[in-house]
Amino acid sequence: MVDTKNQYHKIKPEIDNAVLQVMESSAFINGKIVQDFAAHLSSYLDVKHTIPCANGTDALQVAMMALDLQPGDEVITPSFTYIATTEVIALLRLTPVFVEVDPKTFCMDPAALEKAITPRTKAIVPVHLYGHAAPMEEIMAIAAKHNLFVIEDNAQAIGCDYTFSTGKKKKTGSIGHIGTTSFYPSKNLGAFGDGGAIFTNDDALAVKLKMIANHGQSKRYYHDLVGCNSRLDSVQAAILDIKLKHLDEYIIARRKAADFYDKAFAGNKNIITPFRAPYSYHVFHQYTLQLDGINNPATVRDALNEFLAKNSIPSMIYYPVPGHRQKVFEQYSAKTLHMPTTDWLTERVISLPMHTELDDDQLAFISSKVLEFINNNS
Ligand SMILES: Cc1ncc(COP(=O)(O)O)c(C=O)c1O
Repeated sequence: MVDTKNQYHKIKPEIDNAVLQVMESSAFINGKIVQDFAAHLSSYLDVKHTIPCANGTDALQVAMMALDLQPGDEVITPSFTYIATTEVIALLRLTPVFVEVDPKTFCMDPAALEKAITPRTKAIVPVHLYGHAAPMEEIMAIAAKHNLFVIEDNAQAIGCDYTFSTGKKKKTGSIGHIGTTSFYPSKNLGAFGDGGAIFTNDDALAVKLKMIANHGQSKRYYHDLVGCNSRLDSVQAAILDIKLKHLDEYIIARRKAADFYDKAFAGNKNIITPFRAPYSYHVFHQYTLQLDGINNPATVRDALNEFLAKNSIPSMIYYPVPGHRQKVFEQYSAKTLHMPTTDWLTERVISLPMHTELDDDQLAFISSKVLEFINNNS
Protein backbone atom coordinates (compact mmCIF):
# COMPACT_ATOMS: atom_id res chain seq x y z
CA MET A 1 0.00 0.00 0.00
CA VAL A 2 2.98 2.31 0.59
CA ASP A 3 6.58 2.48 -0.61
CA THR A 4 8.54 3.93 2.26
CA LYS A 5 11.77 2.38 0.98
CA ASN A 6 11.95 4.32 -2.27
CA GLN A 7 10.77 7.45 -0.49
CA TYR A 8 13.67 7.04 1.97
CA HIS A 9 16.19 6.45 -0.81
CA LYS A 10 15.38 9.83 -2.34
CA ILE A 11 16.36 11.65 0.86
CA LYS A 12 18.79 9.08 2.26
CA PRO A 13 21.86 11.35 2.74
CA GLU A 14 19.80 13.92 4.70
CA ILE A 15 18.10 11.28 6.85
CA ASP A 16 21.26 9.26 7.51
CA ASN A 17 23.14 12.39 8.50
CA ALA A 18 20.36 13.51 10.87
CA VAL A 19 20.21 10.09 12.55
CA LEU A 20 23.99 9.99 12.94
CA GLN A 21 23.89 13.43 14.55
CA VAL A 22 21.44 12.14 17.17
CA MET A 23 23.77 9.19 17.85
CA GLU A 24 26.69 11.58 18.30
CA SER A 25 24.69 13.86 20.59
CA SER A 26 23.47 10.88 22.66
CA ALA A 27 20.43 12.99 23.51
CA PHE A 28 18.04 10.18 22.68
CA ILE A 29 15.14 11.38 24.80
CA ASN A 30 13.90 14.98 24.87
CA GLY A 31 16.87 16.19 22.86
CA LYS A 32 16.93 19.63 21.26
CA ILE A 33 15.82 18.09 17.97
CA VAL A 34 12.48 17.12 19.54
CA GLN A 35 11.84 20.74 20.53
CA ASP A 36 13.03 21.97 17.10
CA PHE A 37 10.74 19.58 15.28
CA ALA A 38 7.80 20.62 17.49
CA ALA A 39 8.50 24.30 16.72
CA HIS A 40 8.74 23.61 12.97
CA LEU A 41 5.49 21.64 13.02
CA SER A 42 3.74 24.42 14.98
CA SER A 43 4.81 26.91 12.37
CA TYR A 44 3.73 24.59 9.49
CA LEU A 45 0.28 24.15 11.05
CA ASP A 46 0.10 27.73 12.32
CA VAL A 47 -0.74 26.49 15.79
CA LYS A 48 0.65 27.85 19.07
CA HIS A 49 1.66 24.60 20.74
CA THR A 50 2.81 21.19 19.52
CA ILE A 51 3.36 18.51 22.14
CA PRO A 52 5.17 15.51 20.66
CA CYS A 53 4.23 12.10 22.09
CA ALA A 54 4.71 8.39 21.51
CA ASN A 55 1.95 7.67 18.97
CA GLY A 56 -1.41 8.85 17.68
CA THR A 57 -3.38 6.74 20.14
CA ASP A 58 -1.55 8.28 23.10
CA ALA A 59 -2.15 11.71 21.58
CA LEU A 60 -5.90 11.10 21.77
CA GLN A 61 -5.64 9.67 25.27
CA VAL A 62 -3.57 12.57 26.62
CA ALA A 63 -5.97 15.03 24.94
CA MET A 64 -8.97 13.45 26.66
CA MET A 65 -7.17 13.28 30.00
CA ALA A 66 -6.46 17.01 29.81
CA LEU A 67 -10.14 17.87 29.53
CA ASP A 68 -11.03 16.54 33.01
CA LEU A 69 -13.81 14.36 31.67
CA GLN A 70 -15.56 12.20 34.25
CA PRO A 71 -16.51 8.51 33.98
CA GLY A 72 -19.75 8.20 32.07
CA ASP A 73 -19.33 11.48 30.18
CA GLU A 74 -20.29 11.01 26.57
CA VAL A 75 -17.87 11.58 23.72
CA ILE A 76 -19.33 11.65 20.22
CA THR A 77 -17.29 10.16 17.43
CA PRO A 78 -17.91 8.53 14.05
CA SER A 79 -18.42 4.77 13.98
CA PHE A 80 -16.55 4.67 10.66
CA THR A 81 -12.98 5.16 11.88
CA TYR A 82 -9.94 3.29 13.12
CA ILE A 83 -10.34 1.69 16.57
CA ALA A 84 -7.78 4.06 18.16
CA THR A 85 -10.23 6.97 18.01
CA THR A 86 -12.91 5.18 20.01
CA GLU A 87 -10.80 2.82 22.10
CA VAL A 88 -9.27 5.60 24.21
CA ILE A 89 -12.74 6.90 25.06
CA ALA A 90 -13.65 3.55 26.58
CA LEU A 91 -10.22 3.15 28.15
CA LEU A 92 -10.81 6.35 30.15
CA ARG A 93 -14.21 5.01 31.28
CA LEU A 94 -15.98 7.57 29.14
CA THR A 95 -18.90 6.56 26.94
CA PRO A 96 -18.34 6.48 23.19
CA VAL A 97 -21.41 7.62 21.26
CA PHE A 98 -21.21 6.62 17.63
CA VAL A 99 -22.62 8.75 14.86
CA GLU A 100 -23.00 8.41 11.12
CA VAL A 101 -20.67 9.80 8.52
CA ASP A 102 -21.48 11.56 5.28
CA PRO A 103 -21.39 8.90 2.52
CA LYS A 104 -19.46 11.22 0.19
CA THR A 105 -16.71 12.52 2.50
CA PHE A 106 -16.59 9.53 4.92
CA CYS A 107 -16.46 12.12 7.75
CA MET A 108 -18.80 12.96 10.64
CA ASP A 109 -22.30 14.03 9.60
CA PRO A 110 -23.10 17.29 11.48
CA ALA A 111 -26.86 16.52 11.53
CA ALA A 112 -26.19 13.15 13.16
CA LEU A 113 -23.83 14.84 15.61
CA GLU A 114 -26.42 17.37 16.72
CA LYS A 115 -29.04 14.64 17.19
CA ALA A 116 -26.67 12.62 19.40
CA ILE A 117 -26.02 15.41 21.91
CA THR A 118 -27.41 14.82 25.43
CA PRO A 119 -26.84 16.58 28.78
CA ARG A 120 -23.98 14.09 29.38
CA THR A 121 -22.13 14.97 26.17
CA LYS A 122 -18.81 16.64 26.88
CA ALA A 123 -16.69 16.29 23.77
CA ILE A 124 -16.71 15.59 20.05
CA VAL A 125 -13.95 13.77 18.19
CA PRO A 126 -14.26 14.34 14.44
CA VAL A 127 -11.89 12.30 12.27
CA HIS A 128 -10.41 13.63 9.03
CA LEU A 129 -10.68 10.23 7.44
CA TYR A 130 -8.52 9.13 4.51
CA GLY A 131 -7.09 12.67 4.26
CA HIS A 132 -10.39 14.53 3.74
CA ALA A 133 -11.38 17.19 6.27
CA ALA A 134 -14.46 16.73 8.42
CA PRO A 135 -16.90 19.69 8.13
CA MET A 136 -15.18 21.64 10.90
CA GLU A 137 -17.05 24.92 10.49
CA GLU A 138 -20.37 23.22 11.22
CA ILE A 139 -18.88 21.01 13.93
CA MET A 140 -17.29 23.98 15.74
CA ALA A 141 -20.59 25.91 15.56
CA ILE A 142 -22.48 22.97 17.10
CA ALA A 143 -19.79 22.60 19.77
CA ALA A 144 -19.98 26.30 20.66
CA LYS A 145 -23.78 26.15 20.87
CA HIS A 146 -23.65 23.22 23.32
CA ASN A 147 -20.43 24.19 25.10
CA LEU A 148 -18.52 21.06 24.05
CA PHE A 149 -14.83 20.36 23.51
CA VAL A 150 -13.60 19.35 20.08
CA ILE A 151 -10.59 17.07 19.61
CA GLU A 152 -9.69 16.63 15.94
CA ASP A 153 -8.25 13.22 15.09
CA ASN A 154 -5.89 14.36 12.36
CA ALA A 155 -3.89 11.12 12.13
CA GLN A 156 -4.81 10.70 8.46
CA ALA A 157 -4.84 14.28 7.23
CA ILE A 158 -1.75 16.20 8.26
CA GLY A 159 -1.22 19.02 5.78
CA CYS A 160 -4.90 19.26 4.80
CA ASP A 161 -6.20 22.83 4.42
CA TYR A 162 -9.72 23.58 5.58
CA THR A 163 -11.37 26.59 3.90
CA PHE A 164 -14.03 28.41 5.96
CA SER A 165 -17.00 30.16 4.35
CA THR A 166 -15.15 33.48 4.83
CA GLY A 167 -12.36 32.16 2.61
CA LYS A 168 -9.98 31.87 5.59
CA LYS A 169 -7.89 28.70 5.56
CA LYS A 170 -6.63 26.68 8.50
CA LYS A 171 -4.80 23.38 8.66
CA THR A 172 -6.81 20.48 10.05
CA GLY A 173 -5.64 19.71 13.57
CA SER A 174 -5.43 23.42 14.40
CA ILE A 175 -9.17 24.18 14.38
CA GLY A 176 -10.57 22.34 17.41
CA HIS A 177 -9.64 22.93 21.05
CA ILE A 178 -7.08 20.15 20.60
CA GLY A 179 -5.79 18.31 17.54
CA THR A 180 -3.91 15.03 17.44
CA THR A 181 -1.86 13.17 14.87
CA SER A 182 0.10 9.97 14.29
CA PHE A 183 3.53 9.57 12.69
CA TYR A 184 3.05 5.83 12.07
CA PRO A 185 5.41 5.00 9.15
CA SER A 186 2.67 4.78 6.51
CA LYS A 187 1.10 8.11 7.47
CA ASN A 188 1.53 11.14 5.17
CA LEU A 189 4.21 12.38 7.60
CA GLY A 190 5.60 9.05 8.72
CA ALA A 191 8.45 8.28 11.09
CA PHE A 192 10.70 5.20 11.01
CA GLY A 193 8.87 3.85 14.03
CA ASP A 194 6.07 5.15 16.22
CA GLY A 195 5.33 8.79 16.98
CA GLY A 196 2.52 11.24 17.52
CA ALA A 197 1.72 14.82 18.44
CA ILE A 198 -0.92 16.97 20.10
CA PHE A 199 -1.78 20.53 19.03
CA THR A 200 -3.53 23.41 20.73
CA ASN A 201 -3.79 27.18 20.65
CA ASP A 202 -4.81 27.27 24.32
CA ASP A 203 -1.86 28.12 26.62
CA ALA A 204 -3.37 26.59 29.77
CA LEU A 205 -4.32 23.37 27.96
CA ALA A 206 -0.81 23.18 26.48
CA VAL A 207 0.75 23.23 29.95
CA LYS A 208 -1.58 20.43 31.06
CA LEU A 209 -1.06 18.32 27.94
CA LYS A 210 2.70 18.59 28.33
CA MET A 211 2.49 17.57 31.97
CA ILE A 212 0.18 14.62 31.35
CA ALA A 213 2.44 13.26 28.59
CA ASN A 214 5.33 13.48 31.07
CA HIS A 215 4.10 11.67 34.20
CA GLY A 216 2.03 14.66 35.32
CA GLN A 217 5.10 16.68 36.22
CA SER A 218 6.12 20.19 35.27
CA LYS A 219 9.20 20.03 37.52
CA ARG A 220 11.17 16.79 37.72
CA TYR A 221 9.88 14.43 40.43
CA TYR A 222 7.05 16.80 41.45
CA HIS A 223 3.85 15.21 40.16
CA ASP A 224 0.68 17.32 40.23
CA LEU A 225 -1.49 15.29 37.86
CA VAL A 226 -2.00 11.67 36.95
CA GLY A 227 -0.11 11.33 33.71
CA CYS A 228 1.58 8.79 31.52
CA ASN A 229 4.89 8.31 29.77
CA SER A 230 4.45 9.30 26.16
CA ARG A 231 7.53 10.60 24.34
CA LEU A 232 8.69 11.05 20.78
CA ASP A 233 12.32 9.95 20.68
CA SER A 234 15.07 12.09 19.17
CA VAL A 235 15.81 9.74 16.25
CA GLN A 236 12.19 9.89 15.11
CA ALA A 237 12.08 13.67 15.61
CA ALA A 238 15.22 14.10 13.47
CA ILE A 239 13.70 12.00 10.67
CA LEU A 240 10.35 13.77 10.90
CA ASP A 241 12.00 17.19 10.86
CA ILE A 242 13.49 16.37 7.46
CA LYS A 243 10.35 14.76 6.11
CA LEU A 244 8.27 17.77 7.20
CA LYS A 245 10.20 19.88 4.66
CA HIS A 246 8.98 17.46 1.97
CA LEU A 247 5.40 17.10 3.21
CA ASP A 248 3.84 19.52 0.72
CA GLU A 249 5.55 17.85 -2.23
CA TYR A 250 4.49 14.42 -0.84
CA ILE A 251 0.89 15.64 -0.76
CA ILE A 252 1.15 16.87 -4.35
CA ALA A 253 2.47 13.44 -5.42
CA ARG A 254 -0.47 11.73 -3.66
CA ARG A 255 -2.96 14.09 -5.29
CA LYS A 256 -1.40 13.41 -8.70
CA ALA A 257 -1.84 9.67 -8.18
CA ALA A 258 -5.45 10.31 -7.09
CA ASP A 259 -6.06 12.37 -10.26
CA PHE A 260 -4.77 9.47 -12.35
CA TYR A 261 -7.11 6.99 -10.63
CA ASP A 262 -10.03 9.44 -10.88
CA LYS A 263 -9.57 9.73 -14.64
CA ALA A 264 -9.16 5.97 -15.09
CA PHE A 265 -12.42 5.21 -13.23
CA ALA A 266 -14.43 8.20 -14.48
CA GLY A 267 -17.82 7.24 -15.85
CA ASN A 268 -17.76 3.66 -14.57
CA LYS A 269 -21.23 3.07 -13.19
CA ASN A 270 -20.06 0.60 -10.55
CA ILE A 271 -17.25 2.68 -9.08
CA ILE A 272 -17.61 5.77 -6.91
CA THR A 273 -14.31 7.66 -6.74
CA PRO A 274 -13.40 9.78 -3.68
CA PHE A 275 -15.32 13.03 -3.35
CA ARG A 276 -13.44 16.29 -2.77
CA ALA A 277 -15.57 18.80 -0.88
CA PRO A 278 -14.75 22.41 -1.81
CA TYR A 279 -13.76 23.19 1.80
CA SER A 280 -11.18 20.41 1.98
CA TYR A 281 -7.79 20.13 0.28
CA HIS A 282 -7.73 16.34 0.11
CA VAL A 283 -4.30 14.96 1.10
CA PHE A 284 -5.15 11.38 0.07
CA HIS A 285 -3.83 9.35 2.94
CA GLN A 286 -5.99 6.70 1.30
CA TYR A 287 -7.58 6.45 -2.12
CA THR A 288 -10.82 4.67 -1.32
CA LEU A 289 -13.35 3.49 -3.87
CA GLN A 290 -16.95 2.49 -3.21
CA LEU A 291 -18.53 -0.26 -5.29
CA ASP A 292 -22.01 0.70 -6.39
CA GLY A 293 -24.93 -1.01 -8.12
CA ILE A 294 -23.53 -4.49 -7.53
CA ASN A 295 -25.37 -7.40 -5.89
CA ASN A 296 -23.72 -8.77 -2.74
CA PRO A 297 -21.25 -5.86 -2.67
CA ALA A 298 -19.18 -7.15 0.28
CA THR A 299 -18.61 -10.52 -1.45
CA VAL A 300 -17.68 -8.88 -4.73
CA ARG A 301 -15.48 -6.31 -2.96
CA ASP A 302 -13.66 -9.06 -1.06
CA ALA A 303 -13.22 -10.98 -4.33
CA LEU A 304 -11.74 -7.83 -5.90
CA ASN A 305 -9.33 -7.62 -2.97
CA GLU A 306 -8.25 -11.23 -3.66
CA PHE A 307 -8.08 -10.72 -7.43
CA LEU A 308 -5.78 -7.73 -6.97
CA ALA A 309 -3.60 -9.69 -4.54
CA LYS A 310 -3.24 -12.45 -7.15
CA ASN A 311 -1.97 -9.77 -9.51
CA SER A 312 0.53 -8.57 -6.89
CA ILE A 313 -1.50 -5.45 -6.17
CA PRO A 314 -2.15 -4.75 -2.50
CA SER A 315 -5.53 -3.34 -1.47
CA MET A 316 -7.13 -2.89 1.92
CA ILE A 317 -10.54 -2.71 3.51
CA TYR A 318 -10.52 0.27 5.88
CA TYR A 319 -12.49 -0.76 7.94
CA PRO A 320 -14.26 -4.12 7.74
CA VAL A 321 -16.11 -3.68 11.07
CA PRO A 322 -17.33 -0.23 12.16
CA GLY A 323 -17.18 0.82 15.82
CA HIS A 324 -20.86 0.23 16.54
CA ARG A 325 -20.46 -3.44 15.50
CA GLN A 326 -17.23 -4.17 17.37
CA LYS A 327 -17.51 -6.78 20.11
CA VAL A 328 -15.50 -4.60 22.47
CA PHE A 329 -18.21 -1.92 22.39
CA GLU A 330 -21.18 -4.24 22.97
CA GLN A 331 -21.65 -2.83 26.46
CA TYR A 332 -22.57 0.53 25.00
CA SER A 333 -25.50 -1.16 23.20
CA ALA A 334 -23.73 -0.16 20.06
CA LYS A 335 -24.78 -3.35 18.31
CA THR A 336 -28.38 -2.26 18.29
CA LEU A 337 -27.61 1.08 16.71
CA HIS A 338 -29.10 1.61 13.30
CA MET A 339 -26.38 3.12 11.13
CA PRO A 340 -27.31 2.45 7.51
CA THR A 341 -24.73 4.77 5.93
CA THR A 342 -21.86 3.34 7.93
CA ASP A 343 -23.01 -0.22 7.23
CA TRP A 344 -23.43 0.62 3.53
CA LEU A 345 -19.87 1.95 3.34
CA THR A 346 -18.43 -0.93 5.33
CA GLU A 347 -19.66 -3.36 2.67
CA ARG A 348 -18.45 -1.36 -0.31
CA VAL A 349 -15.13 0.39 0.39
CA ILE A 350 -11.77 -0.73 -0.90
CA SER A 351 -8.54 1.29 -0.74
CA LEU A 352 -5.94 1.09 -3.51
CA PRO A 353 -2.18 1.64 -3.20
CA MET A 354 -1.59 5.31 -2.43
CA HIS A 355 1.80 6.84 -1.77
CA THR A 356 4.39 9.27 -3.06
CA GLU A 357 6.31 6.85 -5.28
CA LEU A 358 3.57 5.58 -7.62
CA ASP A 359 4.42 6.07 -11.28
CA ASP A 360 2.09 6.16 -14.27
CA ASP A 361 2.87 2.57 -15.29
CA GLN A 362 1.98 1.27 -11.84
CA LEU A 363 -1.17 3.41 -11.70
CA ALA A 364 -2.22 2.25 -15.18
CA PHE A 365 -1.67 -1.41 -14.23
CA ILE A 366 -3.59 -1.11 -10.95
CA SER A 367 -6.54 0.71 -12.50
CA SER A 368 -6.69 -1.64 -15.51
CA LYS A 369 -6.89 -4.65 -13.16
CA VAL A 370 -9.64 -3.01 -11.08
CA LEU A 371 -11.61 -2.26 -14.24
CA GLU A 372 -11.04 -5.76 -15.65
CA PHE A 373 -12.50 -7.28 -12.47
CA ILE A 374 -15.41 -4.86 -12.23
CA ASN A 375 -16.34 -5.32 -15.90
CA ASN A 376 -16.38 -9.10 -15.44
CA ASN A 377 -18.33 -9.03 -12.17
CA SER A 378 -21.04 -6.40 -12.47
C1 LIG B 1 -7.79 7.82 12.45
C2 LIG B 1 -6.66 7.35 13.31
N1 LIG B 1 -6.62 7.69 14.60
C3 LIG B 1 -5.63 7.31 15.42
C4 LIG B 1 -4.61 6.53 14.97
C5 LIG B 1 -3.60 6.03 15.95
O1 LIG B 1 -2.29 6.30 15.64
P1 LIG B 1 -1.09 5.35 16.15
O2 LIG B 1 -1.11 4.12 15.31
O3 LIG B 1 0.13 6.20 15.92
O4 LIG B 1 -1.33 5.08 17.59
C6 LIG B 1 -4.57 6.16 13.63
C7 LIG B 1 -3.44 5.37 13.10
O5 LIG B 1 -3.42 4.34 12.63
C8 LIG B 1 -5.63 6.56 12.77
O6 LIG B 1 -5.67 6.19 11.50
